[in-house]
Amino acid sequence: IDKGSFQQDLLGWYHANKRDLPWRKDQDPYKVWVSEIMLQQTKVDTVIPYFYRFIEKFPTIHALAAAEQQDVLKAWEGLGYYSRARNLQNAVKEVVSSYGGEVPRNPDELGALKGVGPYTKGAILSIAYNQPEPAVDGNVMRVFSRVLKVEEDIALQKTKKLFESHVRELIYEDDPSSFNQAVMELGALICTPKSPSCMICPVQIHCSAFKAGIQEDLPVKTKA
Ligand code: ADE
Repeated sequence: IDKGSFQQDLLGWYHANKRDLPWRKDQDPYKVWVSEIMLQQTKVDTVIPYFYRFIEKFPTIHALAAAEQQDVLKAWEGLGYYSRARNLQNAVKEVVSSYGGEVPRNPDELGALKGVGPYTKGAILSIAYNQPEPAVDGNVMRVFSRVLKVEEDIALQKTKKLFESHVRELIYEDDPSSFNQAVMELGALICTPKSPSCMICPVQIHCSAFKAGIQEDLPVKTKA
């Protein structure tokens, strides 16, 4: 894969085709954080109205830290997986008490917060802080399993590590925020789980699975 040409094709497509999502209006780390937590088990279309309501109710880290837990859970009602909301509030309280209300830019500090796993950490560092960090979830693994023809089982932890190292290698250092979001967007709009739209894919010429005609057989996943 030609890195420069891949980045150019991917980013060019993203800037022309990205959806106008509410958490893309600015790079506020708090809003990026809230959106990424909501998006972990919930689809974009469902998240949008919840995100607006949540940010209206709790516009800042300080507002969320000071809120009653029952009001936070009420705003989460219908999204499910309520531990996400409890962890998020506990983590922002920690950000207020230990970091003066500023979301840490230090990967270890950020990753030590409740509910902030490797994916969320990478998403906040790249999208909000423009750090060249991978943010690898199922969508990102699907895209790169195809582009790079990786046939390892994506249910394995070591496969996720493998993709993280591939992303570190390929990430566009001038704009890591757009790069990671472009991969997510490609996974959502083009490189879908079933019947991917390879004919209109901006990175088709870079895609080893397409070349081999096995895009629909990837990624390999054993357990759910
Ligand atoms: N899925 C997870 N994170 C996302 C983001 N930032 N934009 C769109 N879809 C996503």
